Amino acid sequence: MDVYEAVTSRRAVRGFTDEPVPREVLERVLSAAAWSPSGSNIQPWTIFVLTGLLLADLKTRAVERVAHGDPWDDRQYEMYPSVLKSPYGERRSAFGKERYGALGIARDDWEGRQRAAIANWNCFGAPAALFCYIDRDLGRPQWADVGMYLQTVMLLLRAEGLHSCTQMAWSQVRETVAEVLSPPDGLILFCGMSIGYEDPAVTYVRTGRARLDETVTFVSG
Ligand SMILES: Cc1cc2nc3c(=O)[nH]c(=O)nc-3n(C[C@H](O)[C@H](O)[C@H](O)COP(=O)(O)O)c2cc1C
Repeated sequence: MDVYEAVTSRRAVRGFTDEPVPREVLERVLSAAAWSPSGSNIQPWTIFVLTGLLLADLKTRAVERVAHGDPWDDRQYEMYPSVLKSPYGERRSAFGKERYGALGIARDDWEGRQRAAIANWNCFGAPAALFCYIDRDLGRPQWADVGMYLQTVMLLLRAEGLHSCTQMAWSQVRETVAEVLSPPDGLILFCGMSIGYEDPAVTYVRTGRARLDETVTFVSG
């Protein structure tokens, strides 16, 4: 698979089969992803990979907790600004409309949205997940490094025939994640990432993108 195909075939997959992901595949992907760049090569990512009974246990705890309507854990970072200005707000609304529209859930059907959201904490059925932490003393450039690292992981997963879904939703139940992973003090859980083989029976709508000239300006003299 060439890089263009890896990039364009990657999407947030929200339906996985239960086919296990071999440990050696995950090791190969994460060994290669370690070559991601970072400012001054500080490699600011701390990753936990969870499979098997421990992942099953985490899913059960998280889904039960959310289903009971427990409040989210205190935020360690804001997922979005409270007011998402233009054009970001419009893009977010378009995404919500697309995603929930495809599931037949109406705009004002908050219960329906909540039911769909609960699938996050079941990893959309995936048999493997990684959890990505960053030290709380690091700053915005290091968060950007972590983003590059995660995209590298996702592209390498495509090269292995695997799919993924990055999920900030896991940060909302970070204490439940910590009960299972016992991460060292001082780390912020940025996100989880479900990993597995796509379930072709789960339908989806491919998310769109802004036109190139909305986000890119060529300047030449
Ligand atoms: C940092 C990050 C966090 C995300 N969190 C979630 C999440 O919690 N749940 C979810 O279903 N999708 C999540 N997504 C997936 C995005 O919704 C998705 O990437 C975006 O809509 C573009 O669609 P595509 O990845 O299918 O091209 C996240 C993506 C990123 C990069």
